[in-house]
Amino acid sequence: MTADVDGADEPARLRHALVRSLIDAGWPSDPRVMAALETVPRHVFVPGVPLQQAYANDVVHTKLAEDGRPISAASQPRIVAMMLQQADVRAGHRVLEIGAGTGYNAGLLAELAGPDGQVTTVDVDADLVEAAAANLAAAGYGSVRVVCGDGALGDPSGAPFDVVIATVGAWRVPQAWLDQVAAGGRLVVPQRIRGRMTRSVVYERGTAGRWVSVDHQLCGFMPLRGGAADDPYSSIDLTGDGQVRLGVYQEQHIDAAALAGVLDRPRVQIRTGVRFGGSESLEWLWLWLACALPGGLSELHADRATRDTGVVVAPYGVWLMATTGRAALAYATVLDPVDGGTGVEVVVVGHSTDGGGLAERMAACVVDWDRRYRGHDVHLTLELGTEPASGSAAVPDDVCDAAHGRFVFGMPGSRLTVRWADAAL
Ligand SMILES: C[S@@+](CC[C@H](N)C(=O)[O-])C[C@H]1O[C@@H](n2cnc3c(N)ncnc32)[C@H](O)[C@@H]1O
Repeated sequence: MTADVDGADEPARLRHALVRSLIDAGWPSDPRVMAALETVPRHVFVPGVPLQQAYANDVVHTKLAEDGRPISAASQPRIVAMMLQQADVRAGHRVLEIGAGTGYNAGLLAELAGPDGQVTTVDVDADLVEAAAANLAAAGYGSVRVVCGDGALGDPSGAPFDVVIATVGAWRVPQAWLDQVAAGGRLVVPQRIRGRMTRSVVYERGTAGRWVSVDHQLCGFMPLRGGAADDPYSSIDLTGDGQVRLGVYQEQHIDAAALAGVLDRPRVQIRTGVRFGGSESLEWLWLWLACALPGGLSELHADRATRDTGVVVAPYGVWLMATTGRAALAYATVLDPVDGGTGVEVVVVGHSTDGGGLAERMAACVVDWDRRYRGHDVHLTLELGTEPASGSAAVPDDVCDAAHGRFVFGMPGSRLTVRWADAAL
C-alpha cells in the first residue's frame, strides 16, 4: 500500500481505517486492490451521507422502490474488495461493469485498469446513470463510460472485454455477458443458486462451450430488474403480522396459502450432531442443502425482537435457511451442544402436522453432507444454449445425484452443474 495517511484529512483517515479492518478480516490480500481502496474516495460517491457512514463496512442504500425495497446501493466494502480481487483487473484491461449504482466500484475498476485501460459501466435507470457519471467526474474518473440501458444485454458496441463484472444479482446468466468476454478473459457474477444461496462466481472458458468456475464466494445482491434477465423475488408472511417472512424466488413453487400459520403447527427439534467451530462458515452446508433438497432453500426473515420471542429458534444471529413441503416447514439453526463442548451444533426445527417428516429429511441431508462432502471443493459449470432433454419444457431437466455429489439445474436456455469434488482437500 502506498498511500501516506500522515496528516491526511478526515476522509483519508477513515478510509485507511476501513481498509485496514478489511485486510485484517481477510479481504483484500492483493496489494493492488488495497491501493485502489485507499485511493478512491467512497464518500464522494454517496453525497449527503455522513463520513462515518460512508466509511463503515456496510451497504449504503441510495434508491428505494415504491414498496420500500432497496433497488440501488453502494455495496458493502467487504464484498466490493472480495469481488475486485476475483476480477483480477490489470493495467490496460477493458472492463465492463453491470450495475453502475453510485459509480464507486467503477472508480475502483478504473484505478486498477489505469490510464491505458477503459471501464464501461451500465445501469438501468437514467437518474442513477446521471448521478454515477457526476460522482465519477467529481472523484477524478471522468473517463469511465457510463451507459443507460439493460445490463443483461452487456455493451455490444464496446466488446470484447477482458473482464465482465456484474455488481447485481443474476439467476440465469445472460448469454451476452459470456459472448462479450475476450479470449482469456473472465466473468464475475453474483449467481443465485436454488433459492436464497448466492455466490460470486468467477467463470472462465472451459472446453466444449462450457464455462468453469475458478473461484466462488458467498455474497448477497439485489437482483437484475427492468430488462431481459430479471430475477424477481417475493416473500410469504408466515405469521399474518409480517413478523416472520419466507423469501421466495422465481424457480421455487411454494404454496403460500398452505403455509399460513405453519409456525403454529406442532414443532419438532432434531439435533444432528454436526458441529461448527467458532469462525467456521455454514455456507458450504447451505450450498449442499440448496442443491440436495427439493425446491432449494429459502431464508426465514425475523428481526431480533421477533427472534427473542421464541417464535423461531435462533439464539445466534445466523441466517435461518428453510425448506418447505405441503403445509410443512423445516429450517436449520444452531444451538450450543448438549454436552457443553465447544462450537455450535446444527439443529433442524420442523413445523407440520405429519410428525416431522420434512425436518427428518433435512436433518438427514445435514448428516450426509458432514459424512461425505464436508471440506470438499465445489465446482460450478455453466452451459448456455442448452435444450431441454424432454423436448417439451422450456427449461432443461434437473439431475439430482446426491450419492455422487453432482447436481444439474436447468434454467431457460442454460444449465448449471454443481459438483462436489471426490476427495477432501
Ligand atoms: C448493488 S447496486 C451496484 C453497486 C455499484 N456497483 C456501486 O459501486 O455503487 C446494483 C445496481 O444494479 C442496477 N441494475 C438492476 N438491474 C439492472 C439491469 N437490468 N441493468 C443494469 N443495471 C441494473 C441497479 O439499478 C443498481 O444500481
